[in-house]
Parts: sequence; C-alpha cells; structure tokens
Amino acid sequence: MALLLSAIVSALLLLSVAPLALSQISPGFPYGTEKVRGVNLGGWLVLEPWITPSLFDNTGNTDIVDEWTFGEFQDLDTATSVLQNHWNTWITETDFANIAAAGLNHVRLPIGYWAFEVGPGEPYIQGQLPYLQQAVTWAGQYGLKVIVDLHGAPGSQNGFDNSGQRLSFPGWHSNQTNIDRTDAIIKTIASMFADQPDVVPIIAPLNEPAGFDGQAVLTAVRQYWYDSYGNIRYPYGTSQQSNTVELIHDAFQPLSYWSGFETPTGWQGVAMDTHIYQVFSDADVEMSYQDHINTACATQSSLSTFDLWLIVGEWSPAPTDCATYLNGRGIGARYDGSYPGSSYVGSCTGLTGSASTFSSSYKTFLRQFWEAQVISYEKGDGWLQWTWKTESADDWSYSAGLANGWIPQDPTDLMYPDICG
Ligand SMILES: *[C@@H]1O[C@H](CO)[C@@H](O)[C@H](O)[C@H]1NC(C)=O
Repeated sequence: MALLLSAIVSALLLLSVAPLALSQISPGFPYGTEKVRGVNLGGWLVLEPWITPSLFDNTGNTDIVDEWTFGEFQDLDTATSVLQNHWNTWITETDFANIAAAGLNHVRLPIGYWAFEVGPGEPYIQGQLPYLQQAVTWAGQYGLKVIVDLHGAPGSQNGFDNSGQRLSFPGWHSNQTNIDRTDAIIKTIASMFADQPDVVPIIAPLNEPAGFDGQAVLTAVRQYWYDSYGNIRYPYGTSQQSNTVELIHDAFQPLSYWSGFETPTGWQGVAMDTHIYQVFSDADVEMSYQDHINTACATQSSLSTFDLWLIVGEWSPAPTDCATYLNGRGIGARYDGSYPGSSYVGSCTGLTGSASTFSSSYKTFLRQFWEAQVISYEKGDGWLQWTWKTESADDWSYSAGLANGWIPQDPTDLMYPDICG
C-alpha cells in the first residue's frame, strides 16, 4: 500500500514537473508540421549593389561599394534623401499583398545593426526602424510571418557587401566590443517583438557568419548562438520564456558539424538556417543544367535527417553569377570569365537582366530548377527564395518568376513533381 501510494505520488510529481521541464514553447507558426514557403525582402533596409545597381551607379563614385561607403563618400543630405526614397518605394504594402497572394507564408527581412545603434566613426545613415515596424504591421494584415534577420553586425561578420561593409577579412568575431553591441541589439529586437509571436515567430540573430575563415569565427559564433538563445527566448528579464524561435545559421559548415547543437533535449524553439547556392565557385558555374538539378535533388538526404527544424533561408533558381555586381560592385562574373582568375564558360547575354531576353528553353530550365529545389528543401522544413525583387536580375527575382511563368502562382502547383525521380 505504501509502495503504491508512493508510486502514485511520484507519478503525480512527474506529471506536474515534466511539462514545466519541457517549457512548452508554442511558436506562432507550426514549424516542423507546416512547410515554410517564403521570400527574402533583400536590398530594402540593407543595400546590396546587385539588387539596386542604380543607387550605386547614380553616385558617380566607383568607391561606393556598400552601405558603409554609401554614407562615407557622399554628402549626408544627398545620401539620406536617396535612402529615404528607396525605403519608401522599394517595398510597399502592395508587395506584402502580392507575396500573400502568391501562396507564401513567410518573409525574411534583413536589417543592419546600424538601424539600432551607430558607433563613433561609423558612417551609416539611420532611419530604417519605422520601416521595420511598418513591415511587421503589413505582414500581420496579410497573414504573413516575418523572420527578423540581423544581416550586418559591427565589424562585419563576413566581409560581404551585404553585411554593410565589404572587407577582405571580417572584424566582428575578434572584437568583444562588437559582439557585446550585437548581443544588445538582439535583446532590443527580441523585446520589440516578444508579444507578437503570431507575426514575428522567429528571429535570426546573425546572417552568414564566416565560418570558412577559421576556428576563431566558429568559436565566437557558437557562444553567440548560446547568448542569443537567452536573449530571444527570455526577453522579459525574468525566467518567463517567450514563444519566439531562435534561427541560427550554419556558418557555412556542413550540417553534420552542428549535429546535437541546441537540440530539443535541452533547448526549446531552435531552428537551423542553411543557404544553398550553385553559383559562387568555378565548378558551380561550369555545371550543366542537368547537373544543377541533380545537385539540388542530392541535398534531400541531409536536409531530411537533421535534428533541428531546418529552413533553407536563401537559395535561387539562377544557374550563373552573371547578375551585375553579384560578386561586388566593379567585380565581374565567373561565368563569362570577367571575375579575377576565372575562365570563360559562356556569354551572360540572355541569362540575367530582363526576362524579355530569356529564351523559352532557359525559362523551362528555371522552372525545373525552381521545382527541384522546392521539392528538395521541403524535405526539410521549408524555404525562402532570395529574393522578392531586383532592379535588373530577373533570374533571381521571385516576382519576375511569377510574372514570366517560371514560378507558379501557387508554390505547390508543380509541373515537374517527379523531377528528382
Ligand atoms: C572593437 O570594435 C569597436 C567598435 O565596435 C572599436 O571602437 C574598437 O576600436 C575595436 N577594438 C579593436 C581592438 O579593434
């Protein structure tokens, strides 16, 4: 009898304790059950020369190659008014309506640290935050979920122009002041949106840290993901948890490198972001169209077996690096041999720019490659194409794909459902 009683007591204890220990996150989107289907709002609140080349060409100054130099080498009033006009026009409410009408459920919105805080000697121009707030309001109105994505950190986490500052070697990871500033910004972002998990269910604390630059970067990144977990999942300064998911990035490491990291045994509400492009090496741009499709299909086994929710947060149907300034303003393309050290594969004519120059066989390939990637990335937990809109690189543009038929109006409406065999 005593034994039975104590068994009942411990069963009751287990019942009351176990749910607490699991901490019961209930995200604003059913990650792992429903597929993420979305687009990035690239080139809006963080400038990218290849997405809006006119903003850079109009400066008449070839030393302006990123948002840092955009502020550094121009008259402040001029640069400010160009930026404000861009923020007001590049993405508007109509885009949110069109993204929702295209059957998508997420947008990923890149923002730079400088929207929140600019340090001494940093030439960034501020004013992005009202647009971030407006974007979240519009997303809510159209039933879209927003991934708020910190795309540029102090010192730059990768040296890419899309981090704000193009550098030969990144400076974020080696300077604790930079990391501390970034932690503070993630705290700010997390508390801004902690009470709107239905619209901002997930925050990406740092885009594409340069893990390929060595162990020091990876060591800093791993610690930063742990700290960001605390900042995103505990935004109230108490033991109360949010329902916000932390979306960490693989830092260009194979998924196997991250196996067991922040997994649901000890952590709640963590997802992994991986970016898959087939254009940033000589070998990539030398592939045949069939090779590109096969390479996409071959990602399925690793995507389907990973131990966190896995989102392919960037990818593109573009099979070349031909888009103007894709490799940086003033830098050419590997595909046509104009990139330093590359050799000619073919002419870029008809492969980027306006879709009106694309052949019907090229558009058929774009559709097939798009479908092969969507099918494959849905073996994980979904995808967001890079990017919704471009000035003159229709091969990368989701909206151009919709308008010209290589992207279906409903992303589940596939013409080649067996393309991966
Ligand atoms: C570290 O970064 C900060 C800006 O975040 C800068 O002021 C400082 O000079 C840097 N320290 C070193 C040693 O480079």
